[in-house]
Amino acid sequence: MAGLASAVFPVVKMTIRSQIFHHFIAAAGTALALCVCTTVAEPGNAVPARLTSEAFPGGEGSVKFTPFASFELPATNLPESQRPLFHAGKALANQPWIKAPTATDARDGLGPLYNARTCLGCHINGGRGPVPHKGDEAIFTAILRLSVPGEKDTVRGSKPEPNYGDQLQGQAVALSHQLRGKIPAKNPATNPEAPPEARIYLDWLEKTVVYNDGESVTLRSPRPRLEELGYGPIDTNVLFSLRAAPAIHGVGLLESIDQAAINALADPEDRDNDGISGRVSQVWDFERGVTVAGRFGWKANRANLRITTAGAFQGDLGITNPIFPGQPCTALQRRCQRTPNGNDADGFELPEHLLTLTVGFVRNIGVPVSRKQTAQSDLGRTYFFNAGCAACHQPSYVTAPRSGDLAHLGGQTIWPYTDLMLHDMGPGLADSRPDYAASGSEWRTPPLWSIGLSAKVNGVATLLHDGRARSVEEAILWHGGEGTAARQAFASMGKYNREALIAFVESL
Ligand code: HEC
Ligand code: HEC
Repeated sequence: MAGLASAVFPVVKMTIRSQIFHHFIAAAGTALALCVCTTVAEPGNAVPARLTSEAFPGGEGSVKFTPFASFELPATNLPESQRPLFHAGKALANQPWIKAPTATDARDGLGPLYNARTCLGCHINGGRGPVPHKGDEAIFTAILRLSVPGEKDTVRGSKPEPNYGDQLQGQAVALSHQLRGKIPAKNPATNPEAPPEARIYLDWLEKTVVYNDGESVTLRSPRPRLEELGYGPIDTNVLFSLRAAPAIHGVGLLESIDQAAINALADPEDRDNDGISGRVSQVWDFERGVTVAGRFGWKANRANLRITTAGAFQGDLGITNPIFPGQPCTALQRRCQRTPNGNDADGFELPEHLLTLTVGFVRNIGVPVSRKQTAQSDLGRTYFFNAGCAACHQPSYVTAPRSGDLAHLGGQTIWPYTDLMLHDMGPGLADSRPDYAASGSEWRTPPLWSIGLSAKVNGVATLLHDGRARSVEEAILWHGGEGTAARQAFASMGKYNREALIAFVESL
């Protein structure tokens, strides 16, 4: 972590340093250590004063949190003239796509292979998607990325598995799949229809963490298991990356942060020696044909929301579009390639104007106002800074000026609590699968805004890239690598203080 550009207040390094010293003192308890202490600030000193704007994490567009909450409401400052377009885009993200060909061609083209029929089928109400907790439930609301070791393809960011590509689709438009169990199973060798790539299940491993005060927490992590492989054997060295669907509110504001503000936080060589480096991800821009900074996805593997949305249409729904014109079939999947498509006159299943509408919806989803602060969460705020959480979960930015239809997204003081950079989070969280610049153990710091509302939005409050954490506490306890000092700071707090820190995170 280095300096800071357009953040509202700087996260002073001293906070983290002094905290580490205090641990050292606590451990060593020597007079020598105390001498060191006099040269650094007291932990509380660098905690910035609370600003009124913190109550409005999404700036002027922050939305009121209603009992029927969702992360799919238009930002309050979205101009009236753009609202019909927002709702049209939401309909495209919400209504199921169907198999081609159909009489009404506007919504056909699903598959041939796909993960879900709608965007909001995974990002339920705009919130997180569930991952199955039981070993006999197949995954339909998360994705499993694949690759094989070897030189990365600059464009795709990894080396795809030859038979199955870089994402496993667990569904197919084939009648024999749709009517599974209702019609007699066809012989896979003679069935002309393209079957799903596989059924994906998760086995969960558990481990227990014990705090100093004797209290313990059980942590679990998933191992993917594939059954009914549809296209022959899978490479024995295949690398998996299970990704849960994140919440998608506020992403237009994240897109509006000036790249220079993020670059200013980077410290890839950890020159300031605080144990936290932070690298800007580098990914392929499929429209401009160049490598650019990545910002979206758990490994910051997408450059912007147009490419993220177009990639989801192709990879998750099997809907071809101007940015990703090919069906999600590998060269070896001939039955998949032969399936009729739902192309319109311009040669895509999703023409440009419908892509633009969907992106407009995603971009303009408002961020709920923060919860009322209590004495407990206010105390937790101090611990959040003291523990060094803000070194990666960068609290705030002022978004860059934007023009035209995006003007309302510019110049906003926002509180997302992310630096949008890659951090090595250690072996416990690693999936060993590189993705563009990200190594197998690097992940993008996710935003923390509205995290405490997850369960209210759709009942899904599981956290981290693969949905393994069932609470904020579990999520913190998984932090390793560059996040080790912060986890240790949290774990060495008393129960009351741990709960206060969690209360603060849940109030954002
Ligand atoms: C099968 C489930 C699924 C479907 C369907 C799906 N997504 Fe996603 N979405 C995900 C997952 C998983 C990620 C994280 C991907 C990664 O890390 O590579 C994601 C990431 C995103 C992000 C980036 C969020 C962030 O904070 O970086 C956006 C925006 C998004 N999806 C929008 C959409 C849109 C729009 C559609 C419909 C065209 C869609 N998604 C369909 C599962 C899904
Ligand atoms: C070194 C950078 C770093 C530090 C320091 C750090 N985090 Fe994180 N945090 C991350 C990354 C990266 C992830 C995503 C990891 C993953 O999904 O595997 C994450 C994930 C989380 C999540 C889950 C978010 C979600 O959407 O699923 C929570 C909650 C969280 N951190 C809270 C904290 C708290 C509280 C602290 C301080 C005790 C902290 N973090 C310190 C980088 C950091």
